[in-house]
Amino acid sequence: MIEFKDITKTYQGNAEVLKGVSFTIESGKLVSVIGRSGCGKTTLLRMVNRLVKPSQGHIFVDGKDIDGLDPIRLRRNIGYVIQQVGLFPHMTVAKNIMIIPKAEHFAKDKMDERCRQLLTMVGLDPDKYMNRYPSELSGGQQQRVGIARALAMDPKIILMDEPFSALDPLTRSSLQDQLLDLQTKMHKTILFVTHDMDEAIKLSDKICVMRKGKVLQYDTPENILKNPANQYVSEFVGPNRIWSSPEFIKVRDIMIKDPRVTKIGQDTRRALEKMREGRVDTLLVVDGEDNRYLGIISANRLRQQPDLSVPIDKFIDSSGKVLRPGENIVDALKIMNEHGQHLIPVVTKAGSLAGLVTRSSLLTVLSQQYFSVEEDGGHESKEVTK
Ligand SMILES: Nc1ncnc2c1ncn2[C@@H]1O[C@H](COP(=O)(O)OP(=O)(O)O)[C@@H](O)[C@H]1O
Ligand SMILES: [Mg+2]
Repeated sequence: MIEFKDITKTYQGNAEVLKGVSFTIESGKLVSVIGRSGCGKTTLLRMVNRLVKPSQGHIFVDGKDIDGLDPIRLRRNIGYVIQQVGLFPHMTVAKNIMIIPKAEHFAKDKMDERCRQLLTMVGLDPDKYMNRYPSELSGGQQQRVGIARALAMDPKIILMDEPFSALDPLTRSSLQDQLLDLQTKMHKTILFVTHDMDEAIKLSDKICVMRKGKVLQYDTPENILKNPANQYVSEFVGPNRIWSSPEFIKVRDIMIKDPRVTKIGQDTRRALEKMREGRVDTLLVVDGEDNRYLGIISANRLRQQPDLSVPIDKFIDSSGKVLRPGENIVDALKIMNEHGQHLIPVVTKAGSLAGLVTRSSLLTVLSQQYFSVEEDGGHESKEVTK
């Protein structure tokens, strides 16, 4: 766990570059710090391994104020990956990766084994790459080596300062995937600095949006997308960004919350009247106080009945698929496509009816991305990055 408590920083001769930054990164989580160039991201990150000292405030790692720790020891237990990779050009890949274990006097054969393991973890064939020099590698491969090196001492914490910014989009995306993959296995505590919102959304458990030395919002990617704290965050996120992460668009956000229902035991005539009044040709059937969902009745089926005084109970169709409120728009589309089902009741785990997704309600949601109005209130967002 990393805790920033009320951190301020003033470089000599500079205005305050960090102004009371407080937030906590839980153990095993990946947190991105995002903001425009110059907002203080790197300064904040370099405080964790004590390359920069706060002017005020404290940083705690697993409850300990790092101010009281030996900086060399601290750094050896924190992986550090930067954009420029920083491999030593005259050393082989293996030597670069093992630089700290060697300084810590690891046994030679153990180091060899560890190096192979690390290269494999980052997707490089050890036999092929161990004895190469950095200049013989592509940018993406060098950055893989940089990550392997950061993992060499098996640190709990990894600091990554725009590690993929210099890579082409394809390489970048494949390194992001690799990092996600590593993270699901290793659960490191990762502080990841980026200026790319797509990257932050893809990788992070939480995102810390900064502006001019202050934290504007610290939240999950889903909440940053759905409930930006203010105009600046929403402009930083940009319009329609959520559509590149449709898994964040939940059924509970898009469902019709008060679909037409009828109780079990209702007679057929009254049910047909209800449909007419509501201008619908189906009703959802529920039972009891807790609105337990039972199935659907359709006008077509009811109209075929000669005796309209009988209860609807026998005509309920409960064969359709249902959605849970926490499922997402992609799940809904799948059911519609694969099962040709136009109406999907939304039912809680306990079995209560929560809402309804229909083909036309979904279409309305889908069309929003093409018709949403872009508000123009953001003079400050046009700020030029340095
Ligand atoms: N060593 C330094 N001395 C003086 N000013 C610095 C130093 N490092 C950074 N700054 C200034 O602090 C501000 C924040 O920089 P930085 O933390 O690098 O931002 P970011 O990583 O978000 O681009 C900038 O205005 C930068 O010019
Ligand atoms: Mg920076």
